[in-house]
Amino acid sequence: MIPFVSSSFLLVGAVALLRAKKTLKKTRKVFRVYVDGCFDLMHFGHANALRQARAIASFASTGGKEGGYVEGAEEVELIVGLVSDEEILRCKGPPVLPEQERVKCVRAVKWVDDIIANVPYELTKEFVEELFSEKYGIDCIVHGDDPCYLPDGTDAYAIPKALGKYREIKRTEGVSTTDLVARLLEYADASENTTSQVGDESSGGKRSEKNERHEARFCTTASRIAQFAAKVSYSKTSKMHEETERRKTDKKQRKNERNEETTCCYVVGAFDVFNAGHVELLEECSFVADKVVCAVIADEYLTRDKTNQPPPMLNQSERAMSAIACRHCDDVVVGAPARLTDDICKTFNVTAVVFEDDDAVTERDRNVCEKNGVQILSVKERVFSRKKLTIAKRVQANRALFEERQKRKMASEKAYYEQKAFVAED
Ligand code: CTP
Repeated sequence: MIPFVSSSFLLVGAVALLRAKKTLKKTRKVFRVYVDGCFDLMHFGHANALRQARAIASFASTGGKEGGYVEGAEEVELIVGLVSDEEILRCKGPPVLPEQERVKCVRAVKWVDDIIANVPYELTKEFVEELFSEKYGIDCIVHGDDPCYLPDGTDAYAIPKALGKYREIKRTEGVSTTDLVARLLEYADASENTTSQVGDESSGGKRSEKNERHEARFCTTASRIAQFAAKVSYSKTSKMHEETERRKTDKKQRKNERNEETTCCYVVGAFDVFNAGHVELLEECSFVADKVVCAVIADEYLTRDKTNQPPPMLNQSERAMSAIACRHCDDVVVGAPARLTDDICKTFNVTAVVFEDDDAVTERDRNVCEKNGVQILSVKERVFSRKKLTIAKRVQANRALFEERQKRKMASEKAYYEQKAFVAED
């Protein structure tokens, strides 16, 4: 039998512990995870890193698997640190896209709650302290399982690792900024070495021959699509919570004005090298319709495309993944027909249609729209429109600098793939 003194002592101790837990719960309920990076030519590998980082945070906040950072935390927030243009230039070589466009792309990813722009490449002691301080309230720092070195060869994440506040996620296979730059450089080669027009079948053929090294290696599984398509809920303190609530109110108001009719905006496009222009387009569509469906055109139609645009750099599954990750898009058709049909209008109850490229609208599309009472919206006013061609030209214009950067990055990427072993994923 436990003596009276020690049992009452135990009781007092237990009460004190419960109180302490309660106080913790009251003071802190949101688990904040931080992911930093360049996010240049934002691709679905970046999006998957952000998705996984949020999943790690969910485990931690519920006390599961990696748990134990914040007792009683019930919600998660994902904060992205975006490395500045100057820092990328100093540590990696020139960025393809300037910060303003990189911010636009990262902010549009549905797992992101907020962005800290202009962060340094190096996680210095001072900056890490600032992240863990009241100012940012970060609980844990996350990066992919690829090694990340500073120009002096030291580990960029050494400090958070030593503090036990670092977690690793699985890098997504078969895609990287380096890989995309390589594809763009090969396109530049193909268009310089041929007398035929850009977008002509003969130049497309030459590119794919040359491009063997960089053909798609990403495995689009059904479970990956399901993970990307899942709805995200935001904590009450998240900036995104405010934004989604505002959108809900707008939609309700629009519905009342139209006597409950739900509107669907069907957006037809390649969505290749997903960029700020696409984000802007989809955001605009989300302002005018209740539902935005991205029709990601099938590869077979794009390779036959005779427009003046570069050939597709990414295949249809890769292109679709970026669209699915975008918060402004409600659903995606993976490998859609290039033309609008009566059947599509009925299936999705389309009320408005937008073509990524205005010039792509044909007489047949106009007839289908007229017959089905579908409005054709124009996107001419977009600030970042027609970005793929601009991006390709930017890489071409700075070819020497990019080639220099590629040499270094491709060597480290090769080494990573050679030593790569299985990494479990959340
Ligand atoms: N990331 C990932 N899978 C990829 C590419 C990136 O998980 N295929 C992760 C990185 O590990 C990092 C974050 O995304 O945590 C941001 O990466 P970033 O700094 O932009 O570098 P990379 O995409 O690796 O670009 P680069 O090819 O220039 O190294």
